[in-house]
Amino acid sequence: MRFFLDTADLDEIATGLEWGMVDGITTNPSIIAKQGKPYLPTVREIAELVPGPVSGEVLATDYEGMLDQGRRLADLADNVVVKVPLGPAGLRVVRTLRGEGTLCNVTLCFSAPQALLAAKAGAAYISPFVGRIDDIGGVGMQLIEEILTIYRQYDFATEVLVASVRHPEHLLQAALMGAEVATIPFGVLEKLYKHPLTDLGLERFLADWNSTGRSFED
Ligand code: E4P
Repeated sequence: MRFFLDTADLDEIATGLEWGMVDGITTNPSIIAKQGKPYLPTVREIAELVPGPVSGEVLATDYEGMLDQGRRLADLADNVVVKVPLGPAGLRVVRTLRGEGTLCNVTLCFSAPQALLAAKAGAAYISPFVGRIDDIGGVGMQLIEEILTIYRQYDFATEVLVASVRHPEHLLQAALMGAEVATIPFGVLEKLYKHPLTDLGLERFLADWNSTGRSFED
């Protein structure tokens, strides 16, 4: 299972890379806006830092505009994946870019039929937003299960990129279901390491050894 970091914060990216847990990055316009930096240069900077796929999203909403921005994003670096919103124009862009050898991540997916359309269009990734479904009283992970069932049934090459992850339980469920990728906010990545028994266990091990008054060497 690959972990992407859902951030444009360069410090978070550097730390995630240092920990060896980051296989790629996803950004969106909100995430980049938070950095207060220019759009395309930010995607380029991240792509240069990360040896894996970096999703950069188009800002236009019409076919021509999205296609032009998608090509400019793809020209930034070989590892840039063009993120395109679901809809007829977006999926048409996916089909065109795919013909040019550019990988696309279809974003803002909230239903299994939408994911089916994205796979038919030739998306490299589909991003179902599990947290936002939970936010309105649905069960986000149920959508992941449905999409995985459909994709496996028809052997689609599109990978399921679990997005809008809010807590470690989303990650656990995604891993149990066999989702190929999850994109994780840095705070959730940090939480994955934690367990109170790990902290308590370490505290006891060290206290027991320190009570002997001996050092590491003797
Ligand atoms: C990533 O591709 C998505 O844009 C992101 O996970 C959305 O997360 P949010 O629902 O927490 O904004």
